[in-house]
Amino acid sequence: MDMRRGLEVLLAFLVISCLCAPLEAELVNGFYTGICSQAETIVTAEVLKAFLNDSGVAAGLVRMHFHDAFVRGADGSVLIDSTSNNTAEKDSPPNNPSLRGFEVIDNAKAKLEASCPGKVSCADILAFAARDSVLLSLGLFYQVPSGRRDGRVSLASEALANLPPPFFNLDQLTQSFASKNFTQEEMIILSGAHTIGRSHCGSFMNRLYTFNSTMSQDPSLNATYAEQLKLKCPNVSTSVNNTVVSMDPSTPTIFDTNYYKDLLINRGLFTSDQTLISTQQTKSIVQTYASSSSVFKQKFRDAFVKMGKIGVLTGDEGEIRTNCRVINS
Ligand code: HEM
Ligand SMILES: *[C@@H]1O[C@H](CO)[C@@H](O)[C@H](O)[C@H]1NC(C)=O
Ligand SMILES: *[C@@H]1O[C@H](CO)[C@@H](O)[C@H](O)[C@H]1NC(C)=O
Ligand SMILES: *[C@@H]1O[C@H](CO)[C@@H](O)[C@H](O)[C@H]1NC(C)=O
Ligand SMILES: *[C@@H]1O[C@H](CO)[C@@H](O)[C@H](O)[C@H]1NC(C)=O
Ligand SMILES: *[C@@H]1O[C@H](CO)[C@@H](O)[C@H](O)[C@H]1NC(C)=O
Ligand SMILES: *[C@@H]1O[C@H](CO)[C@@H](O)[C@H](O)[C@H]1NC(C)=O
Ligand SMILES: *[C@@H]1O[C@H](CO)[C@@H](O)[C@H](O)[C@H]1NC(C)=O
Repeated sequence: MDMRRGLEVLLAFLVISCLCAPLEAELVNGFYTGICSQAETIVTAEVLKAFLNDSGVAAGLVRMHFHDAFVRGADGSVLIDSTSNNTAEKDSPPNNPSLRGFEVIDNAKAKLEASCPGKVSCADILAFAARDSVLLSLGLFYQVPSGRRDGRVSLASEALANLPPPFFNLDQLTQSFASKNFTQEEMIILSGAHTIGRSHCGSFMNRLYTFNSTMSQDPSLNATYAEQLKLKCPNVSTSVNNTVVSMDPSTPTIFDTNYYKDLLINRGLFTSDQTLISTQQTKSIVQTYASSSSVFKQKFRDAFVKMGKIGVLTGDEGEIRTNCRVINS
């Protein structure tokens, strides 16, 4: 190939790669190096401060990242407040009144706007905060690829349509996660997040009192556990929203494998938890994680990182919100 032909090829390559660059923008580890180098440290400090006051924020932030990612991708849309003409995701039944930790994101954002205005997206702050929460719960540390941009749309109806409810069975859960390109095994792994945090009684009371027309109680629920739950959640309407119970009662703030161990003795809190042992194949996956903390943690990390990449906005898409609750005007 002569010199001139070589230059032509090089030029063509450069033109094509420049044209493609915005389409190919991808999340990278350490995206804020040189842009706002202290970004991740500032988020970590805020999450730590909130966690020391109330360890429950860790569970809240892990769940918030899931609820962000499954609705319009991990674009920070779950953080946007409703306005007079729009009911936002956060005011949809899966999120209101149960989602918690918004003030942690607000505090981190305020610090970041003071040190590097307009640089760090709310979607990335949430992804970092969820990672920090897994670490503080004694899970594991991992790098979060970043460079997400913030979305400008948040609709309550989309939260309702995309987030699986606690009464889903195995097939419904598998389908819900498949629609986001996750395998059944990844669904089982991500459900392991229920090893931390709490639930309002309303999310499982049907299993105690109004299961179906022939049985008031779900026979797949451990009878001893059911009695304990009934004491905490009496069959009155005030239980529904006002009382909470730990999802993994023995170690509610620790990212361990007790969630899976509990499933094997029929102590899954939701239908969506207990259903994970309803086939021999899925039960054997549950047994694997119940018996190996390191396998569970590594697979959780991989699936959680993958979750944080769903439908992301990058490059010059979307915006960097100034206030995570409000779309830039
Ligand atoms: C498989 C389908 C899932 C269903 C049906 C489901 C449902 C629920 C429900 C109903 C609650 C309790 C909310 C309340 O009443 O306060 C909850 C809590 C929670 N979920 Fe899930 N979830 C699922 C998957 C996930 C995934 C994939 C994650 C994260 C990777 C996750 C993380 C959490 C956490 C950490 C909590 C505790 C929140 C807190 O303490 O504030 N869940 N989930
Ligand atoms: C500490 O946690 C409590 C309970 O969650 C909360 O009401 C309060 O606002 C928190 N205080 C600070 C300073 O974060
Ligand atoms: C809601 O109103 C604001 C101005 O008050 C406007 O900018 C926005 O586009 C409206 N949103 C919708 C969904 O109509
Ligand atoms: C799942 O994968 C398909 C094919 O690669 C893609 O078109 C779709 O956008 C993906 N869906 C999500 C939610 O990432
Ligand atoms: C619980 O309360 C509901 C509604 O108030 C009622 O229909 C149901 O029969 C009650 N179940 C039990 C087991 O008491
Ligand atoms: C009620 O649930 C039990 C246990 O899952 C089941 O065997 C029974 O067929 C159900 N009854 C009705 C009427 O759906
Ligand atoms: C629980 O809270 C939700 C949302 O705030 C509300 O719509 C519902 O009526 C409440 N349920 C009860 C029984 O108080
Ligand atoms: C129910 O839970 C207890 C622990 O409280 C356990 O010993 C028992 O084996 C469980 N029963 C079933 C049927 O899983």
